[in-house]
Amino acid sequence: MRKLVFATNNAHKLDEVKSVSRDSIAILSLKEINCFDDIPETADTLEGNALLKAQYIYNKYGYDCFADDTGLEVDALDGRPGVYSARYAGDEQDAVKNMQKLLSELDGVENRKAQFRTVVALIESGEIRYFEGKITGKIIREPAGKTGFGYDPIFIPDGFSQTFAELGSDLKNKISHRALAINELKKYLNQSI
Ligand code: IMP
Repeated sequence: MRKLVFATNNAHKLDEVKSVSRDSIAILSLKEINCFDDIPETADTLEGNALLKAQYIYNKYGYDCFADDTGLEVDALDGRPGVYSARYAGDEQDAVKNMQKLLSELDGVENRKAQFRTVVALIESGEIRYFEGKITGKIIREPAGKTGFGYDPIFIPDGFSQTFAELGSDLKNKISHRALAINELKKYLNQSI
C-alpha cells in the first residue's frame, strides 16, 4: 500500500481525508512520523502555503507528502478572507470571532455568495503537483449547527438548506471542497501507481 504523509495537525481534516482515501492509500499524520514542528504558513496564496507545508516535510523527513490549504472566499469581500481565513479576526485563530467578524462585514450586504476552496500540493520524489476542490454556497446571517469546525456554522452549500455544521460530518466529508481536492489527488495517485 502506498504511504503518504499528510502534513496537518488538524484531527478533523485527517478524519476527512482518511474517510475518502481509505482503500488505496495509507495516510500518515505528522504525529505518526513524530513531527511536532510548527510548520510555517507564511505565503500569500493557498497554493503557496500548501507547498510550503509539503516542502517542509519532504525536505526534513524525505517522505512523499501532501499538504492542503483552504480559504473561504466571499464574493462581496473580493475573495476575502481567503488565504487569511484562519487568522481573520486575530492570531488566536478563534472560529467564533472569525465568524463574528465576517458576519459584521456582511451586515446589510445582499450578496451572500461564497466558496470554500482547497488547494493540495503533492511532492513525489521532488516533483510538485497541485489539485483543487471548490464548493459554492452562501453565508447565512446567524450560526447554526454544531458539527465540523471553522466557518461551518455559517456556510450553506448550494443545493442544500442547512449549514455544513448541521449537515454533519459524514455528508460534509463526501461533498466538501477538501473531499473534492483529495479525490483529485486520489485519481492522480491511482493512475500513477
Ligand atoms: P486550513 O488552511 O485548512 O487550515 O484552513 C484555514 C482556515 O479556513 C481554517 O482555520 C478555518 O477557519 C477555515 N476552514 C478550512 N476548512 C474549513 C471547513 O471545512 N469548514 C469551515 N472552515 C474551514
